[in-house]
Amino acid sequence: MKLFIVSAAMIVLVTASAFSIAPAGEETQHSYLGTDSLEAERLKYMNAVLESIKGMEQLPADSVFKNLKVIKGASSISAEHLLWMMNWGWSAELGVSCNHCHVIGKWESDSIQKKDIARGMWLMRVKINNEILPGITGRNYDQQPAVTCITCHRGKAVPDAG
Ligand code: HEC
Ligand code: HEC
Repeated sequence: MKLFIVSAAMIVLVTASAFSIAPAGEETQHSYLGTDSLEAERLKYMNAVLESIKGMEQLPADSVFKNLKVIKGASSISAEHLLWMMNWGWSAELGVSCNHCHVIGKWESDSIQKKDIARGMWLMRVKINNEILPGITGRNYDQQPAVTCITCHRGKAVPDAG
């Protein structure tokens, strides 16, 4: 049943392109889905969180979770969406599991520094997509290409230098 819910949620999310505030670039993201050996582990952690917030999945993430400093306001999304973004949008794009940034089970804790770096990266991404890209003139694309974690990270915790 759980597997079914997860698969259904995957389909809904992919169809709705509901990943982030910047739907473009989605194709590149999706080519990473399910191809990474940590996916099963991440799903296990994600499902444990989903279980702990049962009935509140569709509420705004910042009303469900305890310590959101950047995924709020204009970046506000549902609690469930935040978890998918954690999994596919961040972990898979960096090629890591949840424990790269979190003490498993103490999700609100900031004791791993990479978590705070990730907040800075998110703010950079929002600034690039909302302020810098639109200010570049002469752009003429069918879609609106946007920068996501994978644009730079390409499945690696630290992007290649050159
Ligand atoms: C690259 C770092 C990174 C990875 C990997 C990551 N997270 Fe997060 N996570 C964050 C950051 C940063 C926040 C806080 C966002 C904010 O401040 O708005 C967060 C917040 C959360 C929260 C909310 C906790 C609270 O109560 O405030 C949960 C739950 C969570 N993550 C679960 C997960 C799960 C499950 C995974 C793996 C599928 C995961 N995260 C992978 C960086 C990460
Ligand atoms: C514009 C390019 C770019 C984007 C977009 C980007 N990053 Fe980064 N990221 C970098 C670079 C470059 C570094 C290495 C920084 C350094 O060496 O000081 C890095 C480093 C990090 C680190 C620290 C890695 C380590 O092990 O020290 C984390 C965590 C991280 N990024 C998370 C994210 C997340 C999550 C996203 C998407 C929300 C993201 N990044 C988007 C370029 C980017």
